[in-house]
Amino acid sequence: MVGYLNGSYLPREQIAISPDDRGFLFSDGLYEVIRSYDGTLFQAQAHLDRLNYGAQALRLNTVDFRYLIDVAQELIQRNHLNQGDATVYLQVTRGIAPRTHRFPCPETPLTIYATASSFSPKNAAFEDGISVILFPDQRWARCDIKTVSLIANVLAHQQARDYGASEAIFVRDGVALEGTHSNFFGVFKGTVVTAPKTNYILGGITRQVVLDLCKDLSIPFQERPILEPELQHAEELMVIGTITEITPIVTIDNEKVGSGRPGTITRRLHKAFREFVTSTKKTGAP
Ligand code: PDD
Repeated sequence: MVGYLNGSYLPREQIAISPDDRGFLFSDGLYEVIRSYDGTLFQAQAHLDRLNYGAQALRLNTVDFRYLIDVAQELIQRNHLNQGDATVYLQVTRGIAPRTHRFPCPETPLTIYATASSFSPKNAAFEDGISVILFPDQRWARCDIKTVSLIANVLAHQQARDYGASEAIFVRDGVALEGTHSNFFGVFKGTVVTAPKTNYILGGITRQVVLDLCKDLSIPFQERPILEPELQHAEELMVIGTITEITPIVTIDNEKVGSGRPGTITRRLHKAFREFVTSTKKTGAP
């Protein structure tokens, strides 16, 4: 496997990060996970836009990150991932400096790391649906920034695994917001509902694609808070993201969702999503 660090392509085992890296010491960095379908990066520009948004929010040194799309593409080639599904992981940190809370001197270069891996989508999850748990949201209040500081997500996700579930849905002040690495959608009285884009959720790239698909398919949708007590009346629930695409939820905290089988709107959206992916592959649209 070949990875990328600060301008060089190297075998993964030769990539080493300094213990003084701000990412290691302070989780002082950002990341993106981009899906590649048969060698075409999905929504690359949107990932780049979100990285720029995060870099501004964290006040990282101004860098033109556009070349990272070429790096991602190069990693796909060098790792022979042109066929099938793959993911590219990008990470940017504030660089290497002696440990002190204030920012390092402005000349400190950012650390830029990237890697690409093959990926096997979980078809059983699309067919049969998954179980999720609800979990108190103990994250900070800037969930809109895709920082590498993911310990609250890790603990919540592990709790889900310990209970035999596949994902945990964060609940803050009685509102079901999003998963540990996915956005959260429901269908209520035929309307698709998901949390609005605020500082309490990540503005998911897949989330936006799905909302656009709802528009195209004339499926009514709303961006509004989903209250915890509403969940028992949900006709359908789903998690949505780069890794999960559109995965139906069939139980939540061991309670059946709707009929207990993946719902028709979820299936319709996933079919349309796959068609959209195929069309972007053909046109090579970013
Ligand atoms: N996570 N919400 C959170 C908290 C996430 O971490 C993610 C993605 C999403 C979905 O966003 P997108 O559609 O842009 O992938 C929502 C990545 C995949 C991860 O942490 O591995």
